[in-house]
Amino acid sequence: MPRQFFVGGNFKMNPTSSGQLGSIISVLNSADLDGTTGIVIAPPSLYLIPLKATVRSELQLSAQNCYYKDSGAFTGELSPAQLVDANIPYVILGHSERRTLFHETSEFVAQKTKAALNATLKVILCVGETLPERETGQTAAVVQNQLQAVVDVLQESDWSGVVIAYEPVWAIGTGRVATSAQAQQAHLDIRTFLTQAVSPAVAENTRIIYGGSVTAANSKDLSTQSDVDGFLVGGASLKPEFVNIINARN
Ligand code: 13P
Repeated sequence: MPRQFFVGGNFKMNPTSSGQLGSIISVLNSADLDGTTGIVIAPPSLYLIPLKATVRSELQLSAQNCYYKDSGAFTGELSPAQLVDANIPYVILGHSERRTLFHETSEFVAQKTKAALNATLKVILCVGETLPERETGQTAAVVQNQLQAVVDVLQESDWSGVVIAYEPVWAIGTGRVATSAQAQQAHLDIRTFLTQAVSPAVAENTRIIYGGSVTAANSKDLSTQSDVDGFLVGGASLKPEFVNIINARN
């Protein structure tokens, strides 16, 4: 079975009004979208429940983060059980902004990934290297270390609920997109790692999507790469061009 193309919109801490959110959603609701692509949008968490009523059924919703406990005294956190109860199917974990700004370690990301999967959420698991790490030839090792922490706590069957987002930190929000060759190589390295660290079947079936300055203009070429199974889009997911990124393969 070929891997289903997958495009996620990570709205991050945007927009700042429900009016602006309504405009973004109305563009998506009225667009001609590739029916073969899995589409997920991750708005700020306070918009998740109201959006369920207004967004078209082809678009699935994702939280941008969650904790690993079901409930308790964890001020400001959202639990996997709460997301499941609210019928939110996806959560993004390990985004570089959380790793960097909020000091999340790979072990912590792994713990949250396991808890989310146990609760039946699907996880968009983000990994990626910084510019100094790339420039010193450490890209594959850094990404493998981030993934190894997750490999250590998951069972093989858990991987069916994981989409890996390769997001080089230097490409996020910078306008400096990875070349198609750089993305393909990083994705192939991840797949090769999964083959030996988990299993050939998991390596073959797991979607590996690219994130970092994806636009309508660069998405077409990136989408032709054999190991690029879609995109995780930040800034451009707030604009009408997100439709063209969803439809990149048409
Ligand atoms: P940009 O598309 O704005 O570079 O952000 C990518 C990203 O971080 C998606 O999670």
